[in-house]
Amino acid sequence: MNVHSADALTAEDAIAAQEALGPINSEMATKVALQNTLLTPRFYTTDFDEMDSIDVTPVRAEWDKLINQMKSDPNRGHFKKNADWDKVDWEGMEPKLRAEFIDFLISSCTAEFSGCVLYKEMKRRGKNEDITTLFQLMARDEARHAGFINDALREAGIAVNLGFLTQAKKYTYFRPKFIYYATYLSEKIGYARYITIFRHLEAHPEQRFHPIFKWFREWCNDEFSHGEAFALLMRTDPKLTSGVNKLWIKFFLTAVYSTMSVRDHQRPEFHKALGVDPVWYGYEVFKKTSEISKQVFPLTLDIDSPRWQPNLDRMEAANHQIAEGRKQGGVGGWIKRQLGSAKAAVAFVSLLTIRSIPNEAPVNCRLEPAY
Ligand SMILES: [Fe+2]
Ligand SMILES: [Fe+2]
Repeated sequence: MNVHSADALTAEDAIAAQEALGPINSEMATKVALQNTLLTPRFYTTDFDEMDSIDVTPVRAEWDKLINQMKSDPNRGHFKKNADWDKVDWEGMEPKLRAEFIDFLISSCTAEFSGCVLYKEMKRRGKNEDITTLFQLMARDEARHAGFINDALREAGIAVNLGFLTQAKKYTYFRPKFIYYATYLSEKIGYARYITIFRHLEAHPEQRFHPIFKWFREWCNDEFSHGEAFALLMRTDPKLTSGVNKLWIKFFLTAVYSTMSVRDHQRPEFHKALGVDPVWYGYEVFKKTSEISKQVFPLTLDIDSPRWQPNLDRMEAANHQIAEGRKQGGVGGWIKRQLGSAKAAVAFVSLLTIRSIPNEAPVNCRLEPAY
């Protein structure tokens, strides 16, 4: 059976295809993927019975259309190397860039696989056909994405051991409504990130230092559909986007945006090689994500507030201090870390207190990718 993860019709087959490629020196990659910090991708578990009880009747017409589109599987076979895959000079790559890029690939692979594991589990546990169908389709896509990143990593002599990760990584419990907010946002921000890089490199092909970026357009369309599905799920229950839940939405928006900003600043060489200024990139991604999220969220963050960027900068400086403290070790390092954490917390609370912009979500929420 010589199926590639890109052609697999289920997440299980895609993972098996990756595993069949055999062991490779993956200890380092798997160790990085196993990390659980505020800045690394996590694995989630939830109340699957509650999620299984969702009734999609209120959004039936839009739902069926989306599911049929996903079933038609326009990206089947896309996520594998072909003639467009230029030879990568891993040996000749500047060591700092190489390290940051590998870190980016491992963290992206973990994030993709985190979605896969959650969606696959929902499909396995559920009895509601609407829900299990959706989650099996999304798990399929994420397994292909993770498999493709692993293909790229393999060329550098490393790979994330996906099967091992499923067993060994710690799972964080989120109640279903938090899964909706967090996953909806991570799918939409994923779309915005991939398309922003893709468009930038379309205009500046000389800065495309690795072929994987050529695959980003179709890639982001998958993420866009996944986000659409969560938008519809949230639309089945108006309570999810009103009352006290508005505060939760604001919290998740702030947490997701600020984490992304801090994480991106950890990879200066990577962004330099792409010719992308992380502050510009962050703003572009937040702008697109905010615009899209108006389809379902009752508010957007005021990223043009004079307090927005300075507090992101403060968080980044605090994070730098925490990293230095960790490196330093001992009592001095511990104090540095505590001070850094306190500064990060103050900056985060300050971001949270910026007044948000109210939004009236439209009656029909479905969108098509437009960037
Ligand atoms: Fe994905
Ligand atoms: Fe996705």
